[in-house]
Amino acid sequence: MKILITGGAGFIGSHVIRRFVNKYPDYQIYNLDKLTYAGNLENIKDIDKANNYHFLKGDIADLEYIRGIFEEHKFDGVIHLAAESHVDRSITDPLAFVTTNMVGTAVLLQVFKETWKADFKGKLFYHVSTDEVYGSLGEEGFFVEDTPYDPRSPYSSSKAGSDHLVRAWGHTYGMPIKISNCSNNYGSFQFPEKLIPLFINNIINEKPLPVYGAGVNVRDWLWVVDHASAIDVIFHKGKMGETYNIGGNNEWKNIDLIKVLCQQMDEKLGRPKGTSEKLITYVKDRAGHDMRYAIDSSKLMNELGWEPSVTFEEGLSKTIDWYLENQEWLDNITSGNYREYYSQQYINR
Ligand code: NAD
Ligand code: TYD
Repeated sequence: MKILITGGAGFIGSHVIRRFVNKYPDYQIYNLDKLTYAGNLENIKDIDKANNYHFLKGDIADLEYIRGIFEEHKFDGVIHLAAESHVDRSITDPLAFVTTNMVGTAVLLQVFKETWKADFKGKLFYHVSTDEVYGSLGEEGFFVEDTPYDPRSPYSSSKAGSDHLVRAWGHTYGMPIKISNCSNNYGSFQFPEKLIPLFINNIINEKPLPVYGAGVNVRDWLWVVDHASAIDVIFHKGKMGETYNIGGNNEWKNIDLIKVLCQQMDEKLGRPKGTSEKLITYVKDRAGHDMRYAIDSSKLMNELGWEPSVTFEEGLSKTIDWYLENQEWLDNITSGNYREYYSQQYINR
């Protein structure tokens, strides 16, 4: 079986690649990545010499390129993770999100269809998406698989658009598809623009911790390794044409999570209690900031037997340890272009 995994040099993709390369030596795994600012081959250097791993550098929105690689390799399966993924960047540069997330997904779907025509036996197009497509919750309730879509940022609306495209190719052409919508991930190899690695990096460097608004927005956090295990289970055992929600049943108000992070960082860095909390700085809120996300993943748990492997405290502790042990990785990423991004994003907040 030849599997194309898109976005495998990014955060979640690198964990999915690692899992599939190590666990399924009979599969040939092809990692297609454009290596944008978020893509980093260092994220997968532990497996890049494996016999069943291959890297392809290219853009999912480039129709001729995608046609070429499908013609050469005839992929049986696709696990599609490549995307522009950060909400703040989608507010400043929305068109890049439409191009990669929507046009790129449509190109992959169309070429998959052209390659296999109507003969889809043993084939699968698996699309990895986000809970943000469902919009924002009030204090009560959870997102289930048939919650109506109500995306509100350029990021979430471009992901919602991509989900619709995948379902349209499934419905219209009989393409074998699966979709999963996951809550916020955290863990090793996450680009330090997202809340947890950004704050870990700032604490290490004793820089302010920019909390948007009053810090009362709620997110449901899942350890990335558990997202990769859910993708594995859905890829192999999920029903064709179905959608599965993935979440950690682990809601945190931002400010409460940040305080736990500060405490753990003080302990691990041997700094006096309360040191990191002093760095908390309330800044101007994100435009259109969604208030609460919370996932009901009972379909995945009951039908496919998936469950998270760690508690949040364990996952967070492992994550902090990884960043502390891999400060060179952080330093490499946060030199150069990152500085310009950081100053534009945070200086006038
Ligand atoms: P990421 O930004 O860390 O990585 C994205 C990867 O895609 C990078 O390696 C980048 O180089 C590559 N890429 C971007 N544009 C490309 C293009 N045009 N062609 C080829 N490659 C391209 O993202 P992530 O956080 O790992 O998210 C992966 C997927 O999971 C995304 O589809 C995202 O919507 C979804 N998701 C993320 C989260 C989360 O909390 N991070 C939660 C749920 C779902
Ligand atoms: P983020 O990691 O960007 O994920 P998402 O917006 O996709 O949920 O942000 C998580 C939460 O943290 C979100 O409510 C915004 C907030 N946040 C801050 O308060 N400060 C920051 O610097 C960042 C990046 C996020």
